[in-house]
Amino acid sequence: MTQEEFIRRYLVDRHNTDCNKWDAEMEEKFGTRDLISMWIADMEFRTPEAVVDALTERVKHGVYGYSDVPEAYYPALSNWMESRYGLPVAKESVRFCTGCVTAIAWMIQAFTQPGDSCMILTPVYYPFHNVVTYNDRKLVAVDLHCDENDCFTMDYDAIETAMIKNRVRLLLQCSPHNPAGRVWTEEELARLFEICRRHNVLIVSDEIHQDLCLFGHTFVPALKVAGGRYNDRIVTLNSASKTFNLAGLLHSHIIIPDEKLRARYDLFARGMNRNAINLMGQTATIAGYTKGGEWLDALTGVIESNYTCLKNELHEKAPDVLVTPLEGTYLALIDLRRYMPAEEVHDFILKDCKLAVDYGEQFGEHFKGFVRLNLATDPTLVKQAVYNITSQLVRKG
Ligand SMILES: Cc1ncc(COP(=O)(O)O)c(C=O)c1O
Repeated sequence: MTQEEFIRRYLVDRHNTDCNKWDAEMEEKFGTRDLISMWIADMEFRTPEAVVDALTERVKHGVYGYSDVPEAYYPALSNWMESRYGLPVAKESVRFCTGCVTAIAWMIQAFTQPGDSCMILTPVYYPFHNVVTYNDRKLVAVDLHCDENDCFTMDYDAIETAMIKNRVRLLLQCSPHNPAGRVWTEEELARLFEICRRHNVLIVSDEIHQDLCLFGHTFVPALKVAGGRYNDRIVTLNSASKTFNLAGLLHSHIIIPDEKLRARYDLFARGMNRNAINLMGQTATIAGYTKGGEWLDALTGVIESNYTCLKNELHEKAPDVLVTPLEGTYLALIDLRRYMPAEEVHDFILKDCKLAVDYGEQFGEHFKGFVRLNLATDPTLVKQAVYNITSQLVRKG
C-alpha cells in the first residue's frame, strides 16, 4: 500500500469525538481547541479493517459478560513476536492488564516495598515518574547522555553509581524509548542488564512502542538479550495499543517467563481478586496481530515521511533547531534552546506557533526547552506545524 493510499483510506478527523487529543481535554490542558494537536500518543489513523470487523462481529453478539481469553489469542501473540522479533511467547508466561501504565504500577506493588528505590532513565514518558512516586517509592532518575546532536545514549557509570547509592530495587526501562527516540541495540541492553544483575535489580521493560521501529532499526525484546541470560529478572509489558491505535480499549500484556517471578506476581494478583481482561481489547489484539501487518508497514512509512519532512524543513529554515534522531516511536523530540532561553519555549510553541505539544520538562527536569511532537498524523498538519515554527522563529529574529 502506498503512503497516499494509506492516508486516503485511514486518515480521520477526530474533532468532536470526545478524544483527549482534540476535544475537551485539550482545551483543559492548553486553554483552547484552536491549535494543531501533537501531544498525547495516539494517532489520526483508523485501525485496520480486520480489527474493525472483529470488533463489529463481537459487538453484534450482544452479550459482553465475563469471558476467558480465546485460545487463538496465544498463537496470535506468539506468532507476531516470533515472526517479527524471533521471540516466541509461551502461553503460561502471559498475564493481562488494562494498560501498560497500570501494569507498571502493579509491578512496583508486586515486586517492591514502600520506600524502595525505582530507577528511570530520563527524559522518559511522564507517567514513569508519577507511577513511582504515587506508589510511595523513591524515584531515582538518571539522565541519558545527550550528545551535541541530541542523540541519546546510556550513561552506564551514572546508572551504576546511582543504583548502588540508592539501593535501587527496580529499573523501569522504556524500549523503544519515548521520547528519546532510541531503539536500543542488544549490546546496549546487555550492558544495562549486566549492571542490573550485579546489583540484583528487577527489570520492568515497557515495550509498548516495539512495533514502531523506523529507518531499518530493529527492535530487540529484553527477553531476547544475550539469549535470555537475564530472563530471571525481567518482566516485559507490551500491548497492541500503540501499534494499532487501540489505547481506548484498555488492554495489555504482562510477560513473565521466570517461574519464581511469575509466582510472586500471581500471589500479588490474587490479592487484587481480579481477572483483568478487556473483551474488546483482546478481540482487537488478535485481529491486529493476525491481519494487521500490511497496515503497520504502511503506517511506519507515513511516520518516516513525516519525520523526514520535519527534519529537512527545520534543517533548511531553522538549522539551529536540533532534531533528535528518531529510530522508533512516532514521537519526535526537538530542541529549541539555541534560539531562545528554555523558559520561553512553552509560550512560543503554544501562543506563537499554535501547537499543542508535550514539553521536555514533563519528561525530565533537565530537558526544558525540548518539545515532543506526535507525528502519527496528517502530513499536512506536520507541514503546517513546521511552517508555524520556522515562520515564528524568523519573525522573532
Ligand atoms: C512508554 C509508554 N508506556 C505506556 C504508555 C501508555 O500505555 P497504556 O495506555 O497501555 O497505559 C505510553 C503512551 O504513550 C508510553 O509511551
